Amino acid sequence: MERVLVSEDRKRFFFKGADIHTKFGFIKKEDVLKAKLGSKVKTQLGKEFTIISPSFIDKYMRIKRGPQIIPLKDLGLFVSETGLEPNWKIVDAGSGSGALACFLANLVPKGKVYTYDIRDDHLAITQENIKFLGLKNITAKKLDIYQSIPHKNINMITLDLPEPWLAIENCIKALTSGGFIVSYSPCIPQVSDFVEKVKKTKSLMYLKTIELIEREWEFEERRIRPKTQQIGHSGFLSLVRKI
Ligand SMILES: C[S@@+](CC[C@H](N)C(=O)[O-])C[C@H]1O[C@@H](n2cnc3c(N)ncnc32)[C@H](O)[C@@H]1O
Repeated sequence: MERVLVSEDRKRFFFKGADIHTKFGFIKKEDVLKAKLGSKVKTQLGKEFTIISPSFIDKYMRIKRGPQIIPLKDLGLFVSETGLEPNWKIVDAGSGSGALACFLANLVPKGKVYTYDIRDDHLAITQENIKFLGLKNITAKKLDIYQSIPHKNINMITLDLPEPWLAIENCIKALTSGGFIVSYSPCIPQVSDFVEKVKKTKSLMYLKTIELIEREWEFEERRIRPKTQQIGHSGFLSLVRKI
C-alpha cells in the first residue's frame, strides 16, 4: 500500500510497510496501516503527520541526487514556454541525475524521452531514478551529444551541460521544424556563447533568455511576509526554435 506522510512544514516520509524512523521520532507501522487516508498520526515525540496517497511529485522529490538538479521553479518554464505536448519526442543531455528527463517523461505519456550522458556513474543514478519512478517512456544511454544526436523529428532538445553551443549543429539535424532547444546554464558566459552562436545560425530563431526568481511567503498569524531564506540564483534558461 503506497502512502506518504506529510507534515505542515512540508516534511514527507514514505511508508514502505515498516515502522518509520524520523528525526522527529518514530511512527509504528500498525498506526499507519489502521489510519484512513487524510487522517493524522503522531510520532512518540508528538510531531503530527497527515497520511495521503503519493503523487508523482512526492516520489520525484525523493529521487537520488548526484549532479546538481534543476529546481522546480525552473522546470515549470520548460513546460510553459514550449507548450509541451503529451506526444512529444524529447532529447535531453546531460542526464546528470536524470531529474529533468524523468520530470518531462511523466508529462509526455504518449511520447518519449531519450536522455544521454558521457559518464557511466551519472547514467547509473539516472537508471535508478527511472526505475524508482516507474517510467516506461524513457531511455538513458551513453553518448557525447557534442559528437552526434541519433534521432530525427525531435520536438524538444534540453541541454544542461557545460558547453551547450557545441551541440547546436547536431540539434539542428535532430529537430523537427518548429522544434525547441531549451538550454539551461548557471553562468552568463555560457549563456552568452550559446546565444551568440544561435544568432549566427540561419536555421535557428533565438527567442529569449529568462531567469526566474521565486519569492516564497510565510504565514504565521500576523507575521505574514516573504521568507527570510529563499532560493537565490539557480540558472538561466535560453529558448530557441528551429525554422
Ligand atoms: C548538471 S548535470 C545535468 C543535470 C540534469 N539536468 C538533471 O536534471 O539531473 C550535467 C551533466 O552533463 C553531462 N555532460 C557533460 N558533457 C556532456 C556531453 N558532451 N554529452 C552528454 N552529457 C554531457 C555531465 O556528465 C553531467 O552529468
